[in-house]
Amino acid sequence: MKSMRGYSDIFTEKLNPNLGFDKKETFDYGLAIEGGVGEMTHLGLNRWPQEDGKLAEIGFKDTSIEYLTETYKLGKHLIHAVCLGLDLPEDTLDAIYEKPLVVNRFLKYPPQNTPQYPQYGQPPQYGQPLQYVQPPQVGQTNEMGAGSHVDFGAFTLVYQEIAGLEVLYNEDQKLIWKSVPPKEGTFVVNSGYILEKLTNGFLSATKHRVINRTNQVRFSIALFLDPNPTTEIEPLPKFVSKENPSRFEKCVSGHKGVIFGNKSIYNSIQDKQNQNK
Ligand SMILES: [Fe+2]
Repeated sequence: MKSMRGYSDIFTEKLNPNLGFDKKETFDYGLAIEGGVGEMTHLGLNRWPQEDGKLAEIGFKDTSIEYLTETYKLGKHLIHAVCLGLDLPEDTLDAIYEKPLVVNRFLKYPPQNTPQYPQYGQPPQYGQPLQYVQPPQVGQTNEMGAGSHVDFGAFTLVYQEIAGLEVLYNEDQKLIWKSVPPKEGTFVVNSGYILEKLTNGFLSATKHRVINRTNQVRFSIALFLDPNPTTEIEPLPKFVSKENPSRFEKCVSGHKGVIFGNKSIYNSIQDKQNQNK
């Protein structure tokens, strides 16, 4: 869970409870950006590793904090841009982001015990469009780096250099998995469940997973931009009408793995999680 802080070893997290444990290592930390939730007790203190050797060389803690701070600024622009794209005032979501929960995660995916490139097909390259992912053949293992899931919050900014991220894509009413190739100088933006809720389903949360089909270790960085966990979330008035009634009950935002109050998104997200495994 990204409600943890610090390092987690491989096979300790199961993003999709219906699948096996994820073959990945993670390091999570958060910051109290703009007075937001940083080192509150329910998330625990940041657990920085002792800096010696290579970590001291790169200034791990300072660099990590700088990365989160700068990427968060980008995220704020993104939130405004999405509001404008939805024909809403750009500050529409500012209130729920007044004290945001911002968590950054470093991820390491060893090559997986799964059909690999090039036997599997041509590996996606920088800048190529989404590519269809062949389903595994009978008898093939299909170990996951990250089991299929939707992100909890509003947005996730993913930095990647090696292919591995796959999204469930609706093509002509047919759901298929597509690889999201890396593209230099870009982030992948995943829309999460809170955004789906705010827009009453207009922007649906992206179901995604990670399978490293290369023979290289894959590193990625995911910045989770979640609103204030104590704020109440419900569909914005623009997306609710007599013809299109609210599909979501008002509830406290909470945080994945952390439930605030009686009603939390965390429960309803489980239903969505079980769709299209
Ligand atoms: Fe995710």
